[in-house]
Amino acid sequence: MIRKIAVLTSGGDAPGMNACLRAVIRAGLYQGIDMYVIYDGLRGLVEGQIKQVNKDFTQDIINRGGTIIRSARLPEFKDPIVVERAADQLKDFEIDALVGIGGDGTFRGLNDLAKHGIKVVGIPGTIDNDVGSTEQTIGFSTALNTICECIDKLKDTSGSHQRCSLIEVMGRHCGDLAMYAALAEGAEGVICVEHPLKEDVLFRKLRKMKAQNKSHAIIIVSENLLDIHDLAKKIEEKTGFDTRTEVLGRLQRGGSPSAEDRVLAARMGAKSIELLLNDKCDSRIIGVKGGQIVDLPIEEAVNMKHEHTHGLRDLIDMLQ
Ligand code: F6P
Repeated sequence: MIRKIAVLTSGGDAPGMNACLRAVIRAGLYQGIDMYVIYDGLRGLVEGQIKQVNKDFTQDIINRGGTIIRSARLPEFKDPIVVERAADQLKDFEIDALVGIGGDGTFRGLNDLAKHGIKVVGIPGTIDNDVGSTEQTIGFSTALNTICECIDKLKDTSGSHQRCSLIEVMGRHCGDLAMYAALAEGAEGVICVEHPLKEDVLFRKLRKMKAQNKSHAIIIVSENLLDIHDLAKKIEEKTGFDTRTEVLGRLQRGGSPSAEDRVLAARMGAKSIELLLNDKCDSRIIGVKGGQIVDLPIEEAVNMKHEHTHGLRDLIDMLQ
């Protein structure tokens, strides 16, 4: 029988993590469970940074960006000795189950802990939307809105100077942020894994725009693919478009979560407690499928690859 549940946030922080933390803690307390938080992600777990919390802890955090229990990346969690130390900490605190909010790396860590007899539930929280077992992650909607807000502003200055703006967005190796932003902004171009750069097509298009005296061009580029400064130079040489680069960077991770992320966080957070209290359930990962909250065995979920949104690629090309 489960009496004590702990929750942590791990990996890159994402807007909505606090809203999810709130939901997990409140849903647990509602069921009469003793609720604990673990500071500094999996690293804090290994170090035993564990504290019991009550409802007051979750006051006024639903709208706050970042994560109030902080996050960390811990590559050393691959080491079985480190995992064992983490499992021992939970046992020392007599904690029966763990909820982890994070991305793929966090889920792999949770899976390793599950092998030590800890019941775990993973909730996808990352701006990248790159988790295989879900159509949407907590934080993606807010990051997308932030990118759009930035590009709206860039369009003002880009248009005033008749420039081409190359804008690099995050996503690790997933093009969802780039493609959704391209669609939402009506960008003239997008370059990402799912929509690779075709230089001749891009240059031809920009030359045509220049000839037509178009006010500006917006090209969105996913990180980790190419050097946007080199590409900017090439665009100037090949098209005559005065070109500037903007790397949006970590500001995409900050800010108050969108209503969509808060609602998703609430639904997933409550689901995690429901799963942990169900004796018939093994360790699970929560996701979204067709708008519904679903859950999968953790072993299966960690081996799933994110479905690339190829349908969007055709839509982007059609509307450009
Ligand atoms: O996973 C979230 C993310 O922001 C990625 O988009 C990015 O590649 C990475 O984290 C950056 O991580 P860090 O802030 O640790 O350098």
